[in-house]
Amino acid sequence: MKILVTGGCGFIGSHTVCELLDNGYEVVIIDNLCNSKKEVISKIETITNKKVLFYEGDVRDKELLHKIFQDNTIDGVIHFAGLKAVGESVKIPLSYYRNNIDSTLTLLEVMQESNCKNIVFSSSATVYGIQESPKYVETMERGKTSSPYGETKAMIEKILEDLYASDPTFKITILRYFNPIGAHKSGLIGENPNGIPNNLMPYILKVATHELPELTIFGNDYDTIDGTCIRDYIHVVDLAKGHIKALEHAHKSNPNIYTYNLGSGHGVSVAEIVTAFEKVNKLKLNYKFGARREGDLPEFYADPSKALKELGWKTEETLEDMCKDSYHFIIKEKGE
Ligand code: NAD
Ligand code: UFG
Repeated sequence: MKILVTGGCGFIGSHTVCELLDNGYEVVIIDNLCNSKKEVISKIETITNKKVLFYEGDVRDKELLHKIFQDNTIDGVIHFAGLKAVGESVKIPLSYYRNNIDSTLTLLEVMQESNCKNIVFSSSATVYGIQESPKYVETMERGKTSSPYGETKAMIEKILEDLYASDPTFKITILRYFNPIGAHKSGLIGENPNGIPNNLMPYILKVATHELPELTIFGNDYDTIDGTCIRDYIHVVDLAKGHIKALEHAHKSNPNIYTYNLGSGHGVSVAEIVTAFEKVNKLKLNYKFGARREGDLPEFYADPSKALKELGWKTEETLEDMCKDSYHFIIKEKGE
């Protein structure tokens, strides 16, 4: 089977491409490299000893998408491409709506025109918003999202639902990721954003490698076990494997729209991550407690039981693995 992976040079996309190739899929990538580097392609090829076909370009480029579908028999699409920085999306919302919504609409139009009707979409736990329970279950209604970024995810989920209602020959799988961290065991691919990171693990890595002086833990007065926020961190390789399971499930299932949480089911506090990172990597992190970050929820984590039951997927990597693999990647990246 040949899978088109949009955003395949990015953090989650690159790990998923490795899993696809390791599982016998052929892969075509389209990425405009707005948040990734072309070198990722050769790293993927080194890891897997397989070739990928790479189109450098924008998913909003309909002509290019048509060419890709004409040049290749695409059996399914995994759609990662999108802008993802929550804070930035508040500052430049139009860019976020333009990029994330337009790229999805263009892709879906070309898929429909090409009669390719199997798509896996990268959604986010952010679509749950504030719920009565911090344990998010797929049966909960989408809530109020806290950023334009989150809103693009909720809007795309709705677009996919409307598409399926109009064309029930589509197989649509919506995957709601919780907090992906970690890196490939090879240390060749991982997440290393330019500039000052927004997310916790990339920030920790910059402090651990002395690129930044100090981590600020946003808030230690929440009503949680140690006062810091709780999230459900998931190893990016576990997350990547979830996409293989989603494709296998779609292959043997009837057309429908399926939604799954991909998380570990366990909440971990920021302070616990910091402690685990220090212990497993045998170092001290310079950190301080600061004010709460606007928009942060105190606690949420996945109920991953639907993914286990229907996809046969669950996380395997521990928090220690995530901390070890993230650090291994950044040390290797900086040494190169
Ligand atoms: P990433 O930024 O590392 O990867 C996204 C890739 O898409 C990048 O390589 C970028 O260059 C590319 N891209 C963006 N817009 C494009 C366009 N219009 N045309 C072609 N390529 C384009 O992000 P990631 O962490 O790998 O996330 C992948 C997907 O998962 C995103 O849709 C993101 O919103 C979603 N997601 C991520 C997280 C997370 O915490 N990382 C959580 C939930 C959901
Ligand atoms: N945090 C700090 N200091 C930092 C960075 C983060 O204390 O320098 C804390 C945050 O306050 C939060 C936790 O670490 O409590 C995790 O923060 P991240 O920014 O890493 O992740 P979020 O949970 O805020 O958001 C992530 C993704 C979103 C996605 C959301 C839900 O960035 O795209 O998970 O899946 F929508």
